[in-house]
Amino acid sequence: MKRIFSGVQPTGNLHLGNYLGAIRNWVRLQDDFDDCLFCVVDMHAITVWQDPDHLRANTLETASAMMAAGVDASRNVIFNQSQVAGHAELAWIFNCVARLGWLERMTQFKEKAGKDKERASVGLYAYPNLMAADILLYKGTHVPVGEDQKQHLELARDIAAKFNHDYGQETFPIVEPMILGTGTRIMSLKNGASKMSKSDPSDLSRINMTDDAGSIIRKIRKAVTDPDGLPSEEVGLEGRPEAANLVGIFAALAGRDIADVLSQFGGQGFGTFKQVLGELAVDKLSPIQDEMRRLMADQTYVGQVLTDGAVQAGAIAGPVIEEVKDRVGFFRS
Ligand code: TYM
Repeated sequence: MKRIFSGVQPTGNLHLGNYLGAIRNWVRLQDDFDDCLFCVVDMHAITVWQDPDHLRANTLETASAMMAAGVDASRNVIFNQSQVAGHAELAWIFNCVARLGWLERMTQFKEKAGKDKERASVGLYAYPNLMAADILLYKGTHVPVGEDQKQHLELARDIAAKFNHDYGQETFPIVEPMILGTGTRIMSLKNGASKMSKSDPSDLSRINMTDDAGSIIRKIRKAVTDPDGLPSEEVGLEGRPEAANLVGIFAALAGRDIADVLSQFGGQGFGTFKQVLGELAVDKLSPIQDEMRRLMADQTYVGQVLTDGAVQAGAIAGPVIEEVKDRVGFFRS
């Protein structure tokens, strides 16, 4: 059986990378897979400090963004993680399955914890175990994400394999990462060496899903580029991460491949290209933003979608968590 699971953190500043790398693919995949769960992972969010009121608001905003982008709440399960207790229960069991050495290798922990890792939360360290629990609580088989989640999904595969090995049964499937399309690694507009991120202190580094048309155009105009113009062929983008990023964004938004974009703009300067790219971004994002605003004005509806989704998710998770407890040997009368 095939089942999609994916998630996004409600940490504010949902951006173009989240849309192109993940959410847009969910919209496409919902037609091919009958069974999809899309989760606002609020328990992951608190691995770094979140203001409680902001967390609640961002949870509704993130769910609104998913639906505004086209994820259909009537065909898929949309919910927030903390409303289904099984995530925490299975994560604890996985804390006891995963090895310290496996977590030590996680590059995202190193990036997020920074220099002073003694001060990072234990939750931030164990984060990938919770992520494995998210997927495997539903025996999810396919996980559409951006490139940055690849290592975490490899860990989820290792955890599933070790659990199956240790408890002697094929309890969990080995998940398939789905890293699809040209937008799987959108970089910062200010530095082609770091990815576009919600936590970058510079707002100019990213296009937020809530940015108005003027800001989108201005941010793209101010995006860092090098002094050369656009090359006519893809090899000409090698060693030019900022140029490659803008061309990649164009291709992803327009649904064209990179070679095709370069055949149109090769030989031109960045001035015109940025202008056309800015207009394209506004064109593609503004209908989503209008719908997001409409949904955010109806918080009761969005809240109800999450709560109904949690009931549906809980119904799938219940038998799985029972099966796992049984395999582990937890007594229940
Ligand atoms: P998060 O909230 O950081 O990002 C949500 C999704 O957006 C993708 N993404 C990007 N794609 C392209 N370019 C970028 N610059 C970019 N930045 C983010 C991410 O790859 C992700 O698909 N740990 C996850 C959330 C999570 C999850 C899960 C995902 C928790 N449990 C289970 C899948 C399955 C995260 O922090 O995503």
